[in-house]
Amino acid sequence: MSRVVLAAADEELALRVKHAAEGDVTVLPPGRLPAEPTRLFEQLVDGELPDVLVIGPMARIVETLALASRLDVQAPGISVVMIAEPTAELWQAAMRAGVRDLLPPGLDVPDLRTAIDRAGSAASGRRRVLRPVAETARYTGRVITIASPKGGVGKTTVSTNLAIGLTSSAPQSTVLVDLDVQFGDVASALGLVPEYSLPDAVHGPASQDTMVLKTFLTQHPSGLYAVCGAESPAAGDGISGDDVSRLLASLAREFRYVVVDTAPGLSEQTLAALDRATDVVMLSSMDVPGVRGLRKELDVLRELCMIPAGRHVVMNFADPKGGLSVRDVETTIGTGVDVVLPRSKAVPASTNQGVPLLQSGRKDPMAKELRRLVSRFAATPLMKPGRYRAKHRAAS
Ligand SMILES: Nc1ncnc2c1ncn2[C@@H]1O[C@H](COP(=O)(O)OP(=O)(O)O)[C@@H](O)[C@H]1O
Ligand SMILES: [Mg+2]
Repeated sequence: MSRVVLAAADEELALRVKHAAEGDVTVLPPGRLPAEPTRLFEQLVDGELPDVLVIGPMARIVETLALASRLDVQAPGISVVMIAEPTAELWQAAMRAGVRDLLPPGLDVPDLRTAIDRAGSAASGRRRVLRPVAETARYTGRVITIASPKGGVGKTTVSTNLAIGLTSSAPQSTVLVDLDVQFGDVASALGLVPEYSLPDAVHGPASQDTMVLKTFLTQHPSGLYAVCGAESPAAGDGISGDDVSRLLASLAREFRYVVVDTAPGLSEQTLAALDRATDVVMLSSMDVPGVRGLRKELDVLRELCMIPAGRHVVMNFADPKGGLSVRDVETTIGTGVDVVLPRSKAVPASTNQGVPLLQSGRKDPMAKELRRLVSRFAATPLMKPGRYRAKHRAAS
């Protein structure tokens, strides 16, 4: 019998699902479906992950699909069953999001039972196959690339704060790479005066040996390591996509988190960083040109199949008087927004002082939202074998 969690369902559907799954069903309270699986499962009292997540028709379809695509990556051992009017279009979108089954809202108990059983056995089958992969993958750190079509939208602000935040969540865990090869300003945002910079880290002896590479990193007082940008635009121009790829692979063997700040748009170096990334933070200012640009960039990356498994959409410079709502943005870009950063006077001051907001410990609404972003990465991963029940361990 599978462990089932039911979200976004009314009482009548909850009853049918309970009958169908013969009791082992946790019904989550109605409310907005979080895009992030950790947030959804935080609501489970015993913290045990389900085999099957059934999402009822009370959730918005984009939200269900966004959550399903995340789960597909973060916790492939959970089967997602969606209950909604099954049109051909929705089938296609659902399959792409990794939804296991799409069921019409009126389905009777026996048919529901068959579908839940099928989803449950798919989940345990997948888990058996996936376990060894997840275990070998553990030895490579997460590469988080911050990208945006435009400049001045906060990439450096976000990447420096994310890196500082991750360092404080796990000391010595993080390296920040400045891939804005011509006009990088990570060093200035962190108040660092680097002895070595990006060209030193990718050319010469550092490119051959990870131990040597570590001696070319700049250390920040917080314990964060950094590869700062080239001294001149010309020096930065000599960095190829292959250089970037090699550098990030070496750093990921040494650090749990490799945070990559990039130049606006899709340069050769940024594409290489996206290619190596486990996660992308797509950033945009919360205004019409910014959001349109973001949409175009997402479209291009989708076409190139270059959106990494973890995708995080962040809006910056949010302003209640700006006239754009998160919902408007989501409709335009066709996917959920994960974090909204407010416009804050504390940010330019922190940039100018070379002290990221999360380092200064200032209480500010922006700092709070930045911490929310950090916790998306610092949280315990969902695929933690110990959290599945003993019977699954026995099965694998
Ligand atoms: N939420 C915010 N509120 C106010 N100012 C911000 C905010 N985010 C970034 N800034 C400021 O905007 C400017 C550009 O940010 P930056 O991070 O350098 O952008 P990018 O790296 O995308 O070019 C900086 O001066 C920074 O201090
Ligand atoms: Mg920048």
